[in-house]
Amino acid sequence: MAPVLNLPLNVGQIDDVQELKKARKTQIPNRFVRDMAERPKLAATPSSLSSSIPVIDLKKLMRGNKEEFHLEILKLAASCEEWGFFQVINHEIELDLLEKIEKVAMEFFMLPVEEKQKYPMAPGTVQGYGQAFVFSEDQKLDWCNMFALGLVPHSIRNPKLWPTNPPMFGQTVEAYSREIRKLCEDLLRFIALSLRLNENVFEDMFELSVQAIRMNYYPACPRPDLVLGLSPHSDGSALTVLQQGKGNAVGLHIHKNDTWVPVQPVENALVINIGDTIEVLTNGRYKSSEHRAVTHKEKDRLSIVTFYAPSYEVEIGPMKEMVDESNPSKYRRYNHGEYSRHYVTNKLQGKKTLDFAKITNQKVIVD
Ligand code: OGA
Ligand code: NI
Repeated sequence: MAPVLNLPLNVGQIDDVQELKKARKTQIPNRFVRDMAERPKLAATPSSLSSSIPVIDLKKLMRGNKEEFHLEILKLAASCEEWGFFQVINHEIELDLLEKIEKVAMEFFMLPVEEKQKYPMAPGTVQGYGQAFVFSEDQKLDWCNMFALGLVPHSIRNPKLWPTNPPMFGQTVEAYSREIRKLCEDLLRFIALSLRLNENVFEDMFELSVQAIRMNYYPACPRPDLVLGLSPHSDGSALTVLQQGKGNAVGLHIHKNDTWVPVQPVENALVINIGDTIEVLTNGRYKSSEHRAVTHKEKDRLSIVTFYAPSYEVEIGPMKEMVDESNPSKYRRYNHGEYSRHYVTNKLQGKKTLDFAKITNQKVIVD
């Protein structure tokens, strides 16, 4: 949600995916058809790995006895190191609120396209309704309609992009986002403890953290084998919180050991992932994993995603506790606003976006 590009962009025709579906064409437009290497291999049976995505019980961290707490912190550390992803249960966010946000999101996506386009996401920007991260005419498109809003600080808000219909939309987004913000603050304290750091280290460093919300609606696709719901990427945030629609089919895939592992939804759980910022701060110890979304032949899917990141003014780089002789800095220091701008002005491209901060070993040739 950082400052945006002011260049005139030629992004070509971006079809609204729900409208494509309504038109009932059997052929998928070429711009959505992925090159062979990128097409998802959709197994008929879920991968055995998918059940092993860690589940963290927040109650044990918040209110557990000493032993429960200790074991859960170890599990959290292992999840962040090996997966960069976990699902959190017993998060104490009212289920009613989780249901309400899904309800208003679905009501919004079901509005006539003319109504939704009153809040357009301009090319090269990341707020409003449309497709983010499209910068050229020949870029492949995702089988997804998005609606995104910047929330905190207030200065990133664009009031013209806040829908008045459905009437409860704004109020629900505010209430939901307050709760998710508290969850992020709690999780960052536990993540700090899992690294044996002062529990407030991230909050103190981040100042007034930036928060944004994106709703992704993936209509069913007649050829899920040809398209992607969302291109492979890692998130530029510190933490991301993803709520999958109740009863939705599997859609989120994590890249691990050269395979794509589907994330089986756990009822009422929230999916958390480590973003690029925590990867850099921990000098690569905690992973910002590459992930993508795939579509389903018959079922639509909804996800509500919150991005939580440091204030744009903050300087980011590996923390001194994470660097020593056997573990030299893998990333340079940079301003987070600068990274945020780099992130939103490039197409989604797996882990490549983070090359921005990588220190590449320059070999000194001695002859
Ligand atoms: C995202 C994301 C995955 C999903 O919005 O950054 O990774 O399942 N979404 O919608
Ligand atoms: Ni993501």
